[in-house]
Amino acid sequence: MQNFELYNPVRVAFGIGESKNIVKHVKKLGKKALIVSYDDITFLESLLSDIETQLTNGGIDVIKFYRVKANPLLCHIKEATEICKKEGVDFCIGVGGGSVMDSTKAIAAGTLYKNDLWNMFVSRHDGFVSIPPEESLPTVMIPTLPATSSEMNCIAVATNEVTQEKAYIVAPTLYPTVSIIDPSLTCTLPIYQTAVGAVDAMSHVLEAYLNGDQNSPLQDRLHEGLIVTIIDELREIIKDPLNVEHRATMQWAASLAWNGYLQSGLNATTPMHQMGHVLSALYNTPHGVTLAIFIDSYFRYTCTLNEEREARFALLGEKVFGLSRDGKTNHQVAEETAMCFIKFMDEVGVPHTLSAANIPVSDIEKIADEIVAHGCDSEGMLPSIPKIGREGIVNILKMAK
Ligand SMILES: [Fe+2]
Repeated sequence: MQNFELYNPVRVAFGIGESKNIVKHVKKLGKKALIVSYDDITFLESLLSDIETQLTNGGIDVIKFYRVKANPLLCHIKEATEICKKEGVDFCIGVGGGSVMDSTKAIAAGTLYKNDLWNMFVSRHDGFVSIPPEESLPTVMIPTLPATSSEMNCIAVATNEVTQEKAYIVAPTLYPTVSIIDPSLTCTLPIYQTAVGAVDAMSHVLEAYLNGDQNSPLQDRLHEGLIVTIIDELREIIKDPLNVEHRATMQWAASLAWNGYLQSGLNATTPMHQMGHVLSALYNTPHGVTLAIFIDSYFRYTCTLNEEREARFALLGEKVFGLSRDGKTNHQVAEETAMCFIKFMDEVGVPHTLSAANIPVSDIEKIADEIVAHGCDSEGMLPSIPKIGREGIVNILKMAK
């Protein structure tokens, strides 16, 4: 395990029915709130109406910004910051999944940011040295989709619609002030969205397990336990979608998956996310689906690269799927592990190939160029163990057909 510094100041109010107590949690934050949600609020209409009523009855003025798209756009973040400045908004409330929560963080920080908002984004490859925000309006998150951990981390991802680059802000000021996590809000979430969100959460754990420090037994066991939990709970939710206990476990698992605790001491990289962001930016593919594509192809590609990789994948298969290693080589068990994940994604109905996700396979060279431009280091290598160059990226994409 490597040295690390851990800081996570998010106050979490977790519980069934907690979204009925919003005023209690936000009353110290000010008198005027911007509520941020999706441009299509069909599934959230009654929840949003209830939140608006709670706030109004609690003496808090409400301004609505229901414009966020899945794979949120920088232009909408800019638009909302102008509203916050003009209206003198005191704090922002995000009601929705990762796109909404990430937008809410960027809006709250962007309102106080003195430069062009694109300058906040650290993941850029145009040579510009970004200037992360140092201050933000307070934020409140009310997640309705277990997936990104945005409710407990200091990351915000958005797409610059002009450059077609999906990039992110990482800054301590982005930690939400309060996250009100009410699992009952996820009971009516359709199975497909639940499964895609679960794959995102699972991929956060897998990225760190496979591409972080490999000598951290405690962190390994925590990761393996979280992956097993996400797999088990998704199966239970598919059988019984209204079971709030399973929804609660899934939501807490997703929150823990990328909130900094599991990643402590690993110094992990996120190659699947780096490649997945390119697919989202080019084809608007849902985030979790892009990760399913690379859980399939990146796994099959990398688990054959060298003996250390094979041993790591074999360990993963043994701990997560209970694979026997008796009389088998690490290579054989590593391949079985990759197949277990692929079968699981088939079982839960998440597409995991380019063609199943309606991404043209004729674009593979173009996608590889974009990954090198936007997801690789200054030497054109994808941060992975081991690092992967353009040729390897093309091979991964070919395996993803
Ligand atoms: Fe993710």
